[in-house]
Amino acid sequence: MERQKIIIDTDPGIDDAMAIHYAFAHPRLEVMGLTTIFGNVFVEQATRNALFLTEQAKQHIPVSEGAKHPLRMPPNPPSHYVHGHEGFGTLPAPKPTRKPDPRPAHVFLSETLRAHSGEIILCPVGPLTNIAKLLEYDAEIIHHVKKLVIMGGAVDCAGNVTAHAEANIWNDPDAAEAVFAADWQIELIGLDVTSHITCNAEDFRQVASAAPVIGGFLEKITAFYINFYHSIMSRHVCLLHDPAALVSVTDPSAFEYEDIPLGVITQGEEIGATRPVDHRRAVRVAKFVDAEMVRKKFLDICGQCDTIN
Ligand code: BDR
Ligand code: CA
Repeated sequence: MERQKIIIDTDPGIDDAMAIHYAFAHPRLEVMGLTTIFGNVFVEQATRNALFLTEQAKQHIPVSEGAKHPLRMPPNPPSHYVHGHEGFGTLPAPKPTRKPDPRPAHVFLSETLRAHSGEIILCPVGPLTNIAKLLEYDAEIIHHVKKLVIMGGAVDCAGNVTAHAEANIWNDPDAAEAVFAADWQIELIGLDVTSHITCNAEDFRQVASAAPVIGGFLEKITAFYINFYHSIMSRHVCLLHDPAALVSVTDPSAFEYEDIPLGVITQGEEIGATRPVDHRRAVRVAKFVDAEMVRKKFLDICGQCDTIN
């Protein structure tokens, strides 16, 4: 069986770690590399955490460091209250031995996407700065990417950082606007669907008992994430934002999409909002999800994390 090639652009981050381990363990995905971005943590922490995740799963793939700050606006502080000071809840900073790829993320992306033209899905699950820089560096890259599957945005629902904006878009609205304006295929897995997909501590306890090393790690880091969600939603659950983007690749039938040309508000009170616009290629926006199906698919694969690779 040929596996679907994928590159994840990420700011790990607790739900990023869940998504990455899901992708590593999934028998129908081949992760070609990780590129890192500021967001949940500083980019140096994101790179270190990404390297650690590759070592944990024995994946000898490139990890390439991306942008330290947004294209134009000053950076927002990292989301330590959501993901912990080092990105993995209360765990101390991991100490990977592997080193990052020498190329900056946009160069790594350009070279790797061209080397496998039309075969790779690019899956950004953090702010879109690296992807905007890729377009600036190599405008023709739009012809070499199979498609983008982006975790971000809030199209017909409230944001999670402000009433209008979802975190990944809010952290670099100019980059997101450039990415939506480009003529390539985009699927958007935003809060419209991810805010319905939950897991609880018992789910992660079972993952840990099936896969003590990586599942055990996921159980530890998600305890912090569940506490955060309890503080804002008064429920003992966490939301599966970034894993949902990966599950949409492996199990698209769990999602229903609507084609909507999208833009991003880049200033003013609604900065970071994703809104319908005219005259541009439509984005396939996920509007409905079978949340239970996504939850089950995610937990099933995570339970195999220690054995599959
Ligand atoms: C997104 O923001 C980050 O905190 C998460 O990792 C996810 O990518 C959800 O809005
Ligand atoms: Ca993320």
